[in-house]
Amino acid sequence: MTDQTTAWIEKDKKQLHPVYHPKSHANPLVVERGEGVWLYTADGQKILDGMAGLWNVNAGYGREELAKAAYDQMKELAFTSNFSGMTNLPSIKLAEKLAGFAYEGLNTTFFTSGGSESNDSAFKTARYYWKRKGKPGKYKVIARKGSYHGVTLTATFATGLEKYHAMFGPAPEGFVHIPAPNPYRYEGELKPGETIGQAAARALEEAILHEGADTVAAFIAEPVMGVGGVIVPPADYFPLVRAICDKYGVLFIADEVITGFGRTGEWFALKHWGVKPDILSFAKAITSGYAQLGGIQISDEIRETMETATESEAFMHGYTYSGHAMACAVGLKNLEIMERENYPARAKELGKRLFDGLKTLTEFPFVGDVRGLGLVYGVEIVSNKETKAADPATAMRIFKAAQERGLRSRPLGNTLAFAPPLSINEEEVDEIIKRLGAAMDSVSVN
Ligand SMILES: Cc1ncc(COP(=O)(O)O)c(C=O)c1O
Repeated sequence: MTDQTTAWIEKDKKQLHPVYHPKSHANPLVVERGEGVWLYTADGQKILDGMAGLWNVNAGYGREELAKAAYDQMKELAFTSNFSGMTNLPSIKLAEKLAGFAYEGLNTTFFTSGGSESNDSAFKTARYYWKRKGKPGKYKVIARKGSYHGVTLTATFATGLEKYHAMFGPAPEGFVHIPAPNPYRYEGELKPGETIGQAAARALEEAILHEGADTVAAFIAEPVMGVGGVIVPPADYFPLVRAICDKYGVLFIADEVITGFGRTGEWFALKHWGVKPDILSFAKAITSGYAQLGGIQISDEIRETMETATESEAFMHGYTYSGHAMACAVGLKNLEIMERENYPARAKELGKRLFDGLKTLTEFPFVGDVRGLGLVYGVEIVSNKETKAADPATAMRIFKAAQERGLRSRPLGNTLAFAPPLSINEEEVDEIIKRLGAAMDSVSVN
């Protein structure tokens, strides 16, 4: 490490990093520049970003077009209030572009600055909807164990990972967790003859009945669970979930903060199972990470309850940066790029190549499972393939060995995640496999 990098790292201690513990951020990579799928550090390393930042830089780094869109819009009008009585052209155009883009019948967008705000907005919208429907007792949210929904207070406790709760309780009332449909290790009760999809959907129905349908506002799910270890549900799960939500009058919130905008091989992931949500949360790849933008889309029926509200029932919710002019201009340009370069098709095609490559690594005794969809994959590390005993220590060693070989992944417990930019090419996909294989080799011999 150069003296300059050591000095940067020392100065970096003046900021508090996300999910902070002094040990976890002792020696950060100081990244100076990015181009395509590659990151360049202050001390001269060139690293293939196998995580597209935080699953978001779908268009890759260093895109002139996006920089220019931001520059042009900032010069013209960086920001104006989107509160009562004002609007701006980029937010008008982006909302128009997004109407019906993800799912038919979701024609209205409310903008936020990121995924946590989107989910917080989704929960408040669900409560609002039921109050307008004359059912103010419906306020609870059912989520899945292992899910990640962000870090506002409500998103924290919708999240089904206990380590995010530990230091921030007491929990706000009304967040309930059920088992996730994890095909590799289902933790719920499985009845004879039942599929995992059926069992996990039954868990939802039982939770609704246990809580009382007249108290449940919404169910939230990531179509493919991200931070929880890249879990792809069985094919029968989401159609059953949709039917149960309809049966009991529970709004279905799809958290597509990771899966939205082409990542899984469809523009939005519930399309894989022919299902659509009532509320959609998005963020991240809407701008490929070039600006801070997220949002929710709501069904026409939810929109209608806002149109017919009395003054005292106004939707008193909004952020300074809702509909930020520069961020929306970047979002529009990014969508143009993603359509032009046909990212859902690329994710399918290159995802197959990545999946085929990753599967060859199952010959290592510690690779228990390889799974994913489109261009998002999880490689689960176990100490014993029979017992499937989780081995986070080996996962961490592989992560570090890969980073030393110029490949960035993300260790999520005992699973290593891969979600490279969708602009990645064949040779770069092969580099991921080559470098990960070399990292696994080095861990095997040590
Ligand atoms: C599925 C999901 N929802 C919500 C969030 C929170 O988004 P943000 O970090 O932009 O607030 C994330 C972040 O990784 C996420 O993966």
